[in-house]
Amino acid sequence: MSKNWQANSWRNHPRIQMPEYLDGDALAAVEARLRSYPPLVFAGEARSLKAKLADVGAGKSFLLQGGDCAESFDEFSADNIRDTFKVMLQMAIVLTYGAKLPVVKIGRMAGQFAKPRSAPTEMIDGVEYPSYRGDIINDIAPTAEARIPNPERMLRAYTQSAGSINLLRAFSTGGFADIRSVHKWTLESTRNEAGYQRYQKLADEIDDALQFIAAAGIDPVNTEVMRQVSFYTSHEALLLEYEEALCRMDSTSNLPVAGSGHMLWIGDRTRQPDGAHVEFLSGVQNPIGLKCGPSISTDDLLKLCDKLNPDNEAGRLTLIARFGAGNVGDHLPKLVQAIQKEGRNVVWSCDPMHGNTIKSTTGYKTRPFESILREVREFFEVHDAEGTVAGGVHFEMTGKNVTECTGGSLPLSDEDLSARYHTACDPRLNATQSLELAFLVAEELDKRRKT
Ligand code: PEP
Ligand code: CO
Repeated sequence: MSKNWQANSWRNHPRIQMPEYLDGDALAAVEARLRSYPPLVFAGEARSLKAKLADVGAGKSFLLQGGDCAESFDEFSADNIRDTFKVMLQMAIVLTYGAKLPVVKIGRMAGQFAKPRSAPTEMIDGVEYPSYRGDIINDIAPTAEARIPNPERMLRAYTQSAGSINLLRAFSTGGFADIRSVHKWTLESTRNEAGYQRYQKLADEIDDALQFIAAAGIDPVNTEVMRQVSFYTSHEALLLEYEEALCRMDSTSNLPVAGSGHMLWIGDRTRQPDGAHVEFLSGVQNPIGLKCGPSISTDDLLKLCDKLNPDNEAGRLTLIARFGAGNVGDHLPKLVQAIQKEGRNVVWSCDPMHGNTIKSTTGYKTRPFESILREVREFFEVHDAEGTVAGGVHFEMTGKNVTECTGGSLPLSDEDLSARYHTACDPRLNATQSLELAFLVAEELDKRRKT
């Protein structure tokens, strides 16, 4: 961290993708309120996640990060949180089984509200409106008034995040995630599908293994790690007024910590080395992510490493590659080589969602399952060729039975998208597609383990 860093020093740097609030007094009142509220996460938790990510970077664990593109006020319910959590547990079990490695689980949950947009306005039914920027900023309803940024929405996002994280903590440690429940995590909506048969078989094998080790004296009653999981939260740190107001001094380390989530990341559009977002995240001790899209230069990447991780701390920085299927080979090798040459400690993760968004023939924003899988495979291949660690995957997914991405084993066609297209922003994998993808990624991990 630079000597001059303060929670508000981002204000002296160029900012993009942030709203202009019209009522400065209303904004200041909200910021003051948030400053007085408890943080949602604690510094010790952020440090424990950092230590786990250091293991990911060393190839000793695998990272699974997933959740909504944008959380929404309308979709806030215990069932939605539970179902996404269940699918992530299932995916993690599948990956653990394939990789024979622990899986670090991070939700795009309990704070993923603010969205960067490609244009300041959008056309809806032939009318131009200011763009929707996520529920923490404005309302998705297509009226000029709804689209005015309203600072009060930050308070609602805070409250929703607090409710979400409370439930996630309860699910993680209160018995729900007990490994003996491996069968119970299956969603009713997926019970009749092919992917479920495969999961059922794996869960049966795990049951057998559990009985075997229980006979040897190790069971969830005497072994805590079998009764509970660690589950962390993450979001894009886009709305810096909110992030600043939830930043706290940690009394143990005497260092600042972002209190809004365990891991925060910088989006592909806001990673200017001298920009406001990089400035803010350079000063908090949380593990951070950096999205790397096709326009990132090697020079900028190294500058960003200097600024975001000057001490070259393991687990601090996760580089989330999102180049698009067919493009990984053009971009990733030179970045990986530069990082290796300069001896930078990073975790490499693959976001196969954001480089693969297309418009379907029926007009919906979608992502083909095959492209998502192809990008993950290309990511693994590059790391194989470079002798580096393919550390994890980053998905936009939900436990709901939506029809937003095409393909998968069912499969969904362009015509099927209209049936249950609910996302507030980008198309998500549904529960079945998420589990199927986890099996395919697990196969890749298993192959590598065996060679
Ligand atoms: C996102 O993760 O929702 C996102 C906007 O990604 P990116 O910054 O990589 O485009
Ligand atoms: Co998205």
